[in-house]
Amino acid sequence: MRTQVGIVGAGPAGLTLAHLLQREGIESVVLEDRSREYVEQRLRAGVLEQAIADLLVESGAGERLRGEGIVHEGIELQFDRERHRIPLRDLTGGRSIVIYGQTEIVKDLIRLRLAAGLPLLFEVGDVSVDDLESERPSIRFAHEGAEHVLECDVVAGCDGYHGVCRPSIPAGVLSEFSRDYPFGWLGILAEVAPSNDELVYAHHERGFALLSLRSPELSRLYIQCRPDEDLAEWHDDRIWEELQLRLGLDGWTLAEGLILEKGITGMRSYVAEPMRFGRLFLAGDAAHIVPPTGAKGLNLALHDVRLLAEALVSWYRTGSSELLDGYSDACLRRVWRAEHFSWWMTSMLHRFDSGDDFDLRLQLSQLRYVTTSSAASTSLAENYVGIDRI
Ligand code: FAD
Ligand code: PHB
Repeated sequence: MRTQVGIVGAGPAGLTLAHLLQREGIESVVLEDRSREYVEQRLRAGVLEQAIADLLVESGAGERLRGEGIVHEGIELQFDRERHRIPLRDLTGGRSIVIYGQTEIVKDLIRLRLAAGLPLLFEVGDVSVDDLESERPSIRFAHEGAEHVLECDVVAGCDGYHGVCRPSIPAGVLSEFSRDYPFGWLGILAEVAPSNDELVYAHHERGFALLSLRSPELSRLYIQCRPDEDLAEWHDDRIWEELQLRLGLDGWTLAEGLILEKGITGMRSYVAEPMRFGRLFLAGDAAHIVPPTGAKGLNLALHDVRLLAEALVSWYRTGSSELLDGYSDACLRRVWRAEHFSWWMTSMLHRFDSGDDFDLRLQLSQLRYVTTSSAASTSLAENYVGIDRI
């Protein structure tokens, strides 16, 4: 088997890359180790920067997004039992965010690719990437009982944080940077209309909580928990009780409903540099992750593959490797901005058990500053909606 670009991973990064390349007449094969059902149901992100929503729409993958995506022009920060609106649109010269589930983006891209009869293989096994420093890198994998070797011009490692591509880079090549947080998020999807028109990020002495949504009928809610929390100890009543405590306000209650899904997510910041080794290019969570508080992970993954697609198009058209050579540096400028913003939002909003209330007082001071100073709220807003040029 031979292709131009071998793509490992059918998450948002791999599927969007394949889609952008196909529009430019560049062939690719996408290999995914999970089933189609699994990747289409895996509940994750929900907030798209406007530039990323525009990328999907302009590239022809946004038909449903255009109809079902919900535009939000602000978010709310809650602390000391008060809510304060950050008017994103007004502070950023008209930019907003779009609420549209990652699962829906993945479904849309899979449907487009399969309808066009283009190669996308699920449930592949034993994936390995070889000859990365040669001009003929290859991907070995097993599929439906047979072993295959896919020869490529380049390999795109879009296989997420736990994938095989990054660990295939020889020791000593990558510099790694990381930060672990002493907490996780317990997230639920509930069959109930969202109780607020905009997202609410709540600082509370019992820990952080977030009110989000997926549609006019589906709420998505999170609470800060221990990183090793046992989900079995969180029966539905206890989850609602905790959400009511952390999000509750005088004169406002959270509407409850049937919990359809629950899960626990760890929190980590991580960057590997450079995002390239020979003919292997890393994109998305394969190269970097952020804690979800800034809603940046999915957006970063799609910014990466937009640059990678442009660089590959230029290489195939002109033979110049200038953009490919600049790919890692160009991505990392945005990655580090998002790393900082995500760490900062996380640090401002979560409860840290530091023994005294020094951190708590700093957080409250910062929240008050961010919600009263136009300089500080503009800084939050422009990071949240996504910085244009970086
Ligand atoms: P992934 O989505 O991880 O996709 C990688 C794919 O590769 C997977 O399908 C995986 O099965 C496959 N794979 C792995 N190993 C192999 C292998 N060996 N062979 C073949 N395939 C392989 N981001 C935001 O921007 N906004 C948000 O609001 C937001 N909220 C989040 C909430 C939660 C609870 C979580 C967990 C994450 C959130 N994120 C958010 C982050 C976002 O979901 C990720 O950054 C995004 O999924 C990254 O996409 P990706 O394609 O790079 O990686
Ligand atoms: C979500 O809706 O899943 C969501 C929203 C905002 C975040 C993280 C996750 O910061």
